[in-house]
Amino acid sequence: MKTTLILWFYLLLPLSLLNFTYTINIVTSQCLGHQQSLLLHLKNGLIFNPAKSKKLIHWNHTDDCCQWKGVACSTKGNVIALDISHEFITGGNLTKFVKNFTRIKELYLDGVEISAKGEEWCHAVSSLKSLRVLSMSSSNLSGPLDPSLTKLQSLSVLQLDHNNLSSPVPDYLGNLSGLSTLQLRSCGLSGVFPKNIFQLPSLQVLDVSDNQGLHGSLTNFPNQASLTHLNLSHTNFSGPIPDSIGNLKRFSTLDLSNCQFNGTLPNSISNLAQLVYLDLSFNNLTGPLPSFNRSKALKTLYLNHNYLNGTLPSTHFEGLTNLVSINLEVNSLHGRFPSSLFSLPSLQLLFLANNRFDGQLDEFPNGSFSSIEMLDLSDNNFQGHIPMSIFQLKRLNLLQLSTNKFNGTIKLSMIRQRLQNLATLDLSHNNLSVVDDNDIPFPKLNNFWLASCKLGTFPSFLRNQSSLLYLDLSSNQIEGTIPNWIWRFEFLAALNLSQNSLTDMEGPFQNLSSAMFLLDLHDNQLQGPAHIFTKNMVYLDYSNNRFSSIPAKIGDSIPFSIYIFLSGNNFHEKIDESICNISTLRVLDLSHNGFIGNIPECLTTRKSSSLKLLSLAGNKLSGQISDTFSTSCDLRLLDLNGNLLEGTIPKSLANCQNLQVLNVGNNQLIDEFPCFLKNISTLRVMVLRSNKFYGHIGCSNVIGNWEKLQIVDVAANKFSGMLPKTLFQSWKALMSDKDDDMSRFDHLSFDIYDNNTSSVTLETITTIYSKKSKLKLAEVVSIEPLYVLGFTFGFGIFMMPLILWKKWRLWYSKKVDDALYKIVPQLDFVYERRGGKRYRSLRWKPY
Ligand SMILES: *[C@@H]1O[C@H](CO)[C@@H](O)[C@H](O)[C@H]1NC(C)=O
Ligand SMILES: *[C@@H]1O[C@H](CO)[C@@H](O)[C@H](O)[C@H]1NC(C)=O
Ligand SMILES: *[C@@H]1O[C@H](CO)[C@@H](O)[C@H](O)[C@H]1NC(C)=O
Ligand SMILES: *[C@@H]1O[C@H](CO)[C@@H](O)[C@H](O)[C@H]1NC(C)=O
Ligand SMILES: *[C@@H]1O[C@H](CO)[C@@H](O)[C@H](O)[C@H]1NC(C)=O
Ligand SMILES: *[C@@H]1O[C@H](CO)[C@@H](O)[C@H](O)[C@H]1NC(C)=O
Ligand SMILES: *[C@@H]1O[C@H](CO)[C@@H](O)[C@H](O)[C@H]1NC(C)=O
Ligand SMILES: *[C@@H]1O[C@H](CO)[C@@H](O)[C@H](O)[C@H]1NC(C)=O
Ligand SMILES: *[C@@H]1O[C@H](CO)[C@@H](O)[C@H](O)[C@H]1NC(C)=O
Ligand SMILES: *[C@@H]1O[C@H](CO)[C@@H](O)[C@H](O)[C@H]1NC(C)=O
Ligand SMILES: *[C@@H]1O[C@H](CO)[C@@H](O)[C@H](O)[C@H]1NC(C)=O
Ligand SMILES: *[C@@H]1O[C@H](CO)[C@@H](O)[C@H](O)[C@H]1NC(C)=O
Repeated sequence: MKTTLILWFYLLLPLSLLNFTYTINIVTSQCLGHQQSLLLHLKNGLIFNPAKSKKLIHWNHTDDCCQWKGVACSTKGNVIALDISHEFITGGNLTKFVKNFTRIKELYLDGVEISAKGEEWCHAVSSLKSLRVLSMSSSNLSGPLDPSLTKLQSLSVLQLDHNNLSSPVPDYLGNLSGLSTLQLRSCGLSGVFPKNIFQLPSLQVLDVSDNQGLHGSLTNFPNQASLTHLNLSHTNFSGPIPDSIGNLKRFSTLDLSNCQFNGTLPNSISNLAQLVYLDLSFNNLTGPLPSFNRSKALKTLYLNHNYLNGTLPSTHFEGLTNLVSINLEVNSLHGRFPSSLFSLPSLQLLFLANNRFDGQLDEFPNGSFSSIEMLDLSDNNFQGHIPMSIFQLKRLNLLQLSTNKFNGTIKLSMIRQRLQNLATLDLSHNNLSVVDDNDIPFPKLNNFWLASCKLGTFPSFLRNQSSLLYLDLSSNQIEGTIPNWIWRFEFLAALNLSQNSLTDMEGPFQNLSSAMFLLDLHDNQLQGPAHIFTKNMVYLDYSNNRFSSIPAKIGDSIPFSIYIFLSGNNFHEKIDESICNISTLRVLDLSHNGFIGNIPECLTTRKSSSLKLLSLAGNKLSGQISDTFSTSCDLRLLDLNGNLLEGTIPKSLANCQNLQVLNVGNNQLIDEFPCFLKNISTLRVMVLRSNKFYGHIGCSNVIGNWEKLQIVDVAANKFSGMLPKTLFQSWKALMSDKDDDMSRFDHLSFDIYDNNTSSVTLETITTIYSKKSKLKLAEVVSIEPLYVLGFTFGFGIFMMPLILWKKWRLWYSKKVDDALYKIVPQLDFVYERRGGKRYRSLRWKPY
C-alpha cells in the first residue's frame, strides 16, 4: 500500500525524479549521532499536524535515523536526502535548519509552508553545495529568485511549482549547466523567458506552464537536444513553432496549448518518433495537418481550437495503435472524413466538432470491437444516413451528431439496445426523424438533446428516466400538455421545450423537488398563470406564450436568477417591486405585454445596479420615468419604446455611463433634445421617435461626443429648424469614407458580465446549453448596422443614410429636404438561427 502510494506520487513527477526516489529507499546505513540530533532539532522546530503526519511523527531517538521515513544517508551515515513533503507543516523557520545539512543532495519540501522571501530562501539553500534536487512546490515562497542559486552547480532538478514568485525568470538559471528538470508551473512569472535555458544541454523537462504573464518564443532547438517534456501551456508564448522542433527526437510530451502560437505546423513534427502526448490546442495555428504515422507511441493528440485547414488523409493516422484521444474540434478541416479512424484499436475519444467535414460517413467494420467512448461530430456538413456502424460502438457514452445534414429515421429503441453505456445523446438540428417506439429507459442517460427531430410527443421512456441532467426537446412538434412528471426529475438542471405547440402545464405544482436552474419554454401556446417551480432558477424564458399572470412576489421566488424573459405574453398587472430584490439579475425583458402602472422606481436605483439589459417596451406603462438612476447604473440597453410614459428623459440617466441603446420612442415625453446624455460615449442607438420632443436638434457647449452613435431616430416629434451639419460631423461612427468600410461598425453586443474576458452576449442561451463550453464566442449575435434613420422636420418625415457612405453623403446634400422613406427601425428581441443554433438576439425589425 505504502509503495503504491509513493510510486503513484512520483509517477506524477517527471520520470527523471524516479531515479532519485530510488536512492532514498535503498541507501541504508547507520546514522551519525550529530545527524540524528540535527534532524530531531529540525522536527522540534517545526509546527505540523501530528494526526496527518506520516513521516515526522515517527522520528525518535530509539531508531537509526537513516531508517526514518523521508531520510536517506550516505554509506558513511550522513543525511544526503530529506523528504518532508506533504507533512502539513505550517510553521517553523525552515531556512534556518536546512543550512546545517551541508552534504545533502536531495531536498523535498513540497507543501511545507516556508513562507520566505526570495532572497532569504535562496541564500539558505545555496549553502547546500552538493544539492542535486531541490523540490519546494506549494511552499508559499516569494520571489524574485536570487543569483545565489547559481552556487548550486550540481543542481539537476529545480521544482518550484505553485509558488507566487511574481517575477521574471532570470537568465542566470541558464548558468546551471547540469539542469535536467526545471519546473516553475503556476509561479506568477512574467517578462520574457530567457532563450538560453532552451539551450541547456542536459535539459529534459521544462514546465513553465500556467504563467499567463510569461512571454517568449521558441528558438532553434539544437540537434542533439535532450528535451523530452515541454509544457508551456497557459502562457503568452507566441510566434511560430520552428522547424527545428523535429530535432527533438526524444520528445515524448509537448504541451503548448493555450498560448499565442501562430503560423503553420512544421512538417518536421512528423519526425518525432517518441511522441506520446501532443497538445497544441487553443492557438492560432493555420495550414494543413502534418502526418503522425511515424509517431507510433502517440496516445494523445489535441489540436483543437486552431485555424487548421485542409483535409484529413487517413494515412496520417495509419498504424497508430496506441492512439487514445484525437481532438480536432473547432478548426477548418474539410473534405470527407476517413472512416478508417474509427478502426484505430485503442481510440477512445474522437472529437471533430466545428469543422467543415462533408459528404457521407462510410460504414466501417468491426465497430463492436472498438474502444470508442466519446464521439462528437457535431457542427459539420455530414450528409446522408448515419452509418449503422456508429450504433455498433457499444462502449459509447457520448454521441453528438448535432447540426449536420444527416437524414433518415432513427428509432430510439435501436440506440438503446445497442448503446447500453450512453450518457449523452445529441441528434439535434439535422434532417432526422426520431421515432420514439418504446418506453424502456436508457440505463445511464444524463444528457438528451433532440432539438428539431420532428418529435410529435414527449418520448415516453423519459418518464422512467431517473438520471437526467439536461433535456432539450425544443423545435419539435410536440402538442398539448407538459406532463407533471417532467418537473419531478431529481437532478434535471436544464430543460428546453421551446418552440413546440404546448398549450398547458399539468399540475399540481406543489412539493416539486426540482434542481432546475434553466427553463426555456418560449414560443409555445402556454396559457393560464405562469408557474415558477424552483428557487434555483438562473435562466427563465417564458416569452411568446399566452401566460396571463405572474406569481406574486416573483422576485422572492427566484432570488438567484440572472436572466428573465417574459415578453410577448398577456401579463397585465403592475410590475412587482420584488423583482428588484433579485440582486443577481442582469437581463430583464418584460416587453410586449400589458403591464400597467408606473415603472417601479427601484428598477432604476442602486438596488438594481446589476441590471445590464432592461426592456419594458410595448406595455401600458404610464407616469414619469423616475429621476433616480444611480451612479452605479450599469445598463447597456434601456428600451421603453411604445408605452404611455410622460414627462422628460430623467437627467440622472446620464449616470448610466455604459449605455449603448436608449429607446424611448412612441411615448408621450415632452422634452428637448437630450444633450445631457452626451457624456455617454458608448451610446450607439438613440430612438426618440414619436414623442413630443421640441426645439433644435444639436447641442452647443456640451462636452463629449457620441463617437459610436450609429442610429438616431428623432422622427415624428416637434423639433424645429435645420439639421446642424456640425452635429453629424461629430458623430464619427456615422461616417465612413469607403463604401466597404464596414469593419468599424462592429456588431452591437452586450458584455453582461463585468469581466471582459467572457463577452457573454445574448447568445447565452446556447452557451449555457452547450454541452462543452465552446470557447469561441465569435459568433456574437447582434444588430447588423442599419443604414437609415428618420427625422421629422415639422413638414414630414425623411430619412438619411445612417452610415454616411460617400455616395450617400452626396445624396444627402442634394436631397436632404425631400427624401421620403418609411423604414423605421424598432429594437426588439427576436429569435434567429445561425449555424443551426437558435439565438435570442436584438435586432431591428420594421414596423
Ligand atoms: C519510535 O519510532 C518507532 C518507529 O516508528 C516506534 O516503533 C517507537 O514506538 C517510537 N518510540 C517512541 C518512544 O516514540
Ligand atoms: C529564519 O531564520 C533566519 C536565520 O536565523 C532569519 O534570518 C530569518 O529572518 C528567519 N525568518 C523568519 C520568517 O523568521
Ligand atoms: C546549525 O549551524 C549553525 C552554524 O552554521 C550553528 O550555529 C547551529 O547551532 C547549528 N544548528 C544545530 C541544530 O546544530
Ligand atoms: C505566505 O507568505 C506570506 C508572506 O510571504 C504570508 O504573509 C502568508 O501568511 C503566507 N501564507 C500562508 C498560508 O502561510
Ligand atoms: C552567468 O554566466 C554568465 C556567462 O558565463 C556570466 O556573465 C554571469 O555573471 C553568470 N551569472 C551568475 C549570476 O552567475
Ligand atoms: C502574488 O504576489 C503579488 C505580489 O506579491 C501579489 O500582488 C499577487 O496578488 C499575488 N498573487 C496571488 C495569486 O496570490
Ligand atoms: C501542462 O501544464 C498544464 C497547466 O499547468 C496542465 O494542466 C497540463 O496537464 C500539463 N500538461 C502535461 C502534459 O502535463
Ligand atoms: C490569434 O487570433 C485571435 C483571434 O483571431 C487574435 O485576436 C489574436 O491577435 C491572434 N494572435 C496572434 C498572436 O496572432
Ligand atoms: C503571428 O503573430 C504575429 C503577432 O501577432 C504576427 O506579427 C505574425 O505575422 C503572425 N504570423 C503568422 C504567420 O500569421
Ligand atoms: C488554408 O489557410 C491558408 C492560410 O490561412 C490559406 O492560404 C489556404 O488557402 C487555406 N487552404 C485551404 C485548402 O483552404
Ligand atoms: C439523404 O441525403 C442524401 C445525401 O444528401 C440524399 O441523397 C438522400 O436523398 C437524402 N434522403 C432523404 C430521405 O432525404
Ligand atoms: C466572469 O464572470 C462570470 C460571472 O461572474 C464568471 O462566471 C466567469 O467565470 C468570469 N470569468 C473569468 C475569466 O473570471
